[in-house]
Amino acid sequence: MEGSRGKFLPGSPEVMGGALQGQDWDGYLRGAVQFADGSIVGFTSDIAINNLRRSDGVPSPTAINNQERSLNVANYFAKTYDHSLLAGTAKRLRPVVAFMTGDMLGIPRDDLAEFCVALELLHTASLIVDDLPAQDNSSKRRGVDALHVAFSEWEAQLTAIAMINNAYKLIVIADRDNGSNYELADYMSTVCGENGLCKGQGEDLRLRNKSPKDIKVDDLDRISYLKTGLAIESAIMGVVIIAGTKCPEEAKQPLLYYAYHLGIAWQVKDDIDDVRAPIKKTGKSENQDAKNKKPNYVTVLGPDEVQKKLDFHLAEAQKYVDKLESLGLNATRYREITEYVSQGSR
Ligand code: IPE
Ligand code: IPE
Ligand code: MG
Ligand code: MG
Ligand code: MG
Repeated sequence: MEGSRGKFLPGSPEVMGGALQGQDWDGYLRGAVQFADGSIVGFTSDIAINNLRRSDGVPSPTAINNQERSLNVANYFAKTYDHSLLAGTAKRLRPVVAFMTGDMLGIPRDDLAEFCVALELLHTASLIVDDLPAQDNSSKRRGVDALHVAFSEWEAQLTAIAMINNAYKLIVIADRDNGSNYELADYMSTVCGENGLCKGQGEDLRLRNKSPKDIKVDDLDRISYLKTGLAIESAIMGVVIIAGTKCPEEAKQPLLYYAYHLGIAWQVKDDIDDVRAPIKKTGKSENQDAKNKKPNYVTVLGPDEVQKKLDFHLAEAQKYVDKLESLGLNATRYREITEYVSQGSR
């Protein structure tokens, strides 16, 4: 697998720059797939393919051999899965943050592998759907053509639905000794469902054709929390669920608040990049919000205030890093994430 590692880094140097290129982060990605039996190495590559293309419910990814795979209904989606999941500029923030959280709380990475893939699947599905003509109508994603452009709308829709189903399968089949799978599936369905990400996406799309001056920042915060922040929160709080009593009670609130501010900052930065960053950096179509006549943090706040808004949420996030450290937890990695966002290389 060593040879293919580069392919699964969170982005090529030209695209990413900054902190995500570090060896340590690379380690997180490898850790994502280091199963207890040592069978799988390489994030989103083998784990996605071995685990997620199967429809037979066999819990070990190693149980799938090539012959079984070729009979597998989900194998039909092999090309579309690969197109979206393995695209070079995917940053994989959510699994990376989940592993960081696990390290902080003393959770072996093996115990998080399925959840981390589920996070990336749910997120990738949300992007595939977000890009569809009926939503943001974006033609570029992760440095390549959006899935509906590279394939077709129906293949994009079905791939997203398959990914979501596979994500929940992974969550419920994970072999855990604290029996948290049910709670985790329940939580994730809230995060992604009609009162979470779907609601946020709906509210976001209803902003189309509204004038930025009629939009309050509070509205954008609520929408951003629902469409983007909750999924980032789940990368942290999902691990808290898995951790059970290994997570100190007094750490839960700072973890949640850190996640909130990181999530808003992530969307603010995304909106700034939508206006300012070239496709070479983001891997996405430029000025997509303007093309959709959709107000965002930049158009609602203006260029100076939007930077202050970003700085504010990153500073707030740092406060909760300090709080976690005062509780004796090693939150250095969280600090690196916020620095990464503030460096402008998101
Ligand atoms: C893009 O997410 C959509 C938002 C939630 C703002 P990411 O910026 O995490 O995209 P990938 O996963 O790296 O492609
Ligand atoms: C989308 O926000 C958030 C999702 C949950 C998909 P955007 O629409 O701004 O994300 P990009 O810019 O297309 O990645
Ligand atoms: Mg959108
Ligand atoms: Mg979009
Ligand atoms: Mg955007």
